[in-house]
Amino acid sequence: MDVTTRIGGINLENPIFNASGPRCTTPEHLNALGESQAAAILSKSCTLQPRDGNPKPRYQEFPGGSINSMGLPNLGYEEYAKLYPTLSKYNKPIMSSVSGLSLDDNLKIIEVMNDVDALDAIELNLSCPNLVGKPQVGYDFDQSRDVLEAVGKLCKKPLGVKLPPYFDFVHFQSMAEILNDSKVKFATCVNSLGNGLVIDPQTETVVIKPKGGFGGVGGPVIKPFGLSNVRKFRELLKPEINVIGVGGIEKGMDVFEYILAGADAVQIGTVLQNDGPGAFARILAQFKLVMEKKGYESLDDFKNKLKVIE
Ligand code: DHB
Repeated sequence: MDVTTRIGGINLENPIFNASGPRCTTPEHLNALGESQAAAILSKSCTLQPRDGNPKPRYQEFPGGSINSMGLPNLGYEEYAKLYPTLSKYNKPIMSSVSGLSLDDNLKIIEVMNDVDALDAIELNLSCPNLVGKPQVGYDFDQSRDVLEAVGKLCKKPLGVKLPPYFDFVHFQSMAEILNDSKVKFATCVNSLGNGLVIDPQTETVVIKPKGGFGGVGGPVIKPFGLSNVRKFRELLKPEINVIGVGGIEKGMDVFEYILAGADAVQIGTVLQNDGPGAFARILAQFKLVMEKKGYESLDDFKNKLKVIE
């Protein structure tokens, strides 16, 4: 059986790697991803300066999902630029999530990342929901177009975007047109659903501290939206732009569903936070079992072959 795939011209041994988010911030995290069955190593969204992030508690599980308002804790881009060459020994693609606080910051970061030979791709984050006073770029189509034009001109690595979830066909169309006019080679759908609220009725209190308890929601409760966004973008994007699915994947059958909807690869977030990097081996083994039971020999046998009811 062949479970290899490709995104942005980069070969992956299997379709499952980490979402930029949990357990990908420190050298220890990134080495653990290297040692795991993850098909690639994607680092936490970096900013120009190192950041501690928002006050704790800032992550909480709840039945069916997770809520977070991390606030981009990261080591700063220079530290990641130094770390990537040390990860080459794992012989898997290395990707950098870039989330500068302004277009200028993004350009500065990407200019340096261009010259890091060990780095294989950049995933530009257009969708952090947790920064006070900073709307998600991906919900502002004019700004998204400008950012992608400027970044596209500068970036020498295969460029991807991390998108927020969309809920309206007109919005899917607007973003797809921008991506089709850009240098983007892959779109990662979806980031957490922004600004959810989880309440502990016992204590009559919110469960995370930043922003009065509002935060990005991930995990199984968002899977229908991850699937819909993958499906819609696969339909609207040029075939040469790959789609990466993320949202609520916990088991092999979830990976299967995402690929059926049109994903070329998938990422895991909440389940990686909760179970640790052992989740990759478990989910990959389950996914192979699903393929075997269905008699599929490669991803192309079922990718984007979801049936609709006539
Ligand atoms: C954070 C959360 C996100 O969903 C994201 O895209 C980037 C950063 C965070 O709070 O750290």
